[in-house]
Amino acid sequence: MPSYGSEDRSSNHESRLVLKDGREVFLRPVVPADRDLIIDMFNRVSRRSIYQRFLRNLESLPDDLLYRLTHIDRETSFALAAVVEEGGGEAIIAVGRYAYDHREGYADLALVVRDDWQNLGLGKALLERVVSAAVKRGISCFGSMMDTRNTVMEKILRDLGYTVAYSLKTGVFQVRISV
Ligand SMILES: CC(C)(COP(=O)(O)OP(=O)(O)OC[C@H]1O[C@@H](n2cnc3c(N)ncnc32)[C@H](O)[C@@H]1OP(=O)(O)O)[C@@H](O)C(=O)NCCC(=O)NCCS
Repeated sequence: MPSYGSEDRSSNHESRLVLKDGREVFLRPVVPADRDLIIDMFNRVSRRSIYQRFLRNLESLPDDLLYRLTHIDRETSFALAAVVEEGGGEAIIAVGRYAYDHREGYADLALVVRDDWQNLGLGKALLERVVSAAVKRGISCFGSMMDTRNTVMEKILRDLGYTVAYSLKTGVFQVRISV
């Protein structure tokens, strides 16, 4: 696998993105100091979206999971947050990430957008950027477990033109994506 190319080192992955309703969000990598912003986002995402993201009914973020979500191993992983000004401070309203799994030989993809910011093009834009960051590091195979009712994610993967294979495993889709 994959190692850092010079292109990745020079890029800070920061950019601005204009959404379908004209609002602008700031995209930047997740850092350990985002702990409280990630907790705040978790608390403001619907239980349905949390279920679709984690495929379980999490009431709160366990410490070990929170640590993994905020401490990104730059050699194998990447997490991109969408940030806005809200209530006099910053809020994270969406995160897309990949984590390369050496044993499986693919990168696990995950994506979540706060419900009040959904359907504005943010999920698709984040996924595209996260996949593109992975491709620059030589990763072309991705995987994810997905709720079989997640037609939004199916549509995004279709729209982005990736080659996607779905197989049913213990009631959820095991998704394999090649780009
Ligand atoms: C999946 C998710 C990240 C998408 O984020 P988003 O910002 O709403 O996505 P986008 O706005 O970029 O795209 C959504 C697309 O689905 C379409 N859509 C909306 N509802 C839909 C539905 N019920 N069925 C199919 N497509 C639907 C939208 O019209 C849009 O398509 P368009 O761009 O052609 O108009 C978001 O819904 C989410 O956080 N869900 C919960 C977590 C999750 O499912 N994560 C994925 C598994 S890890």
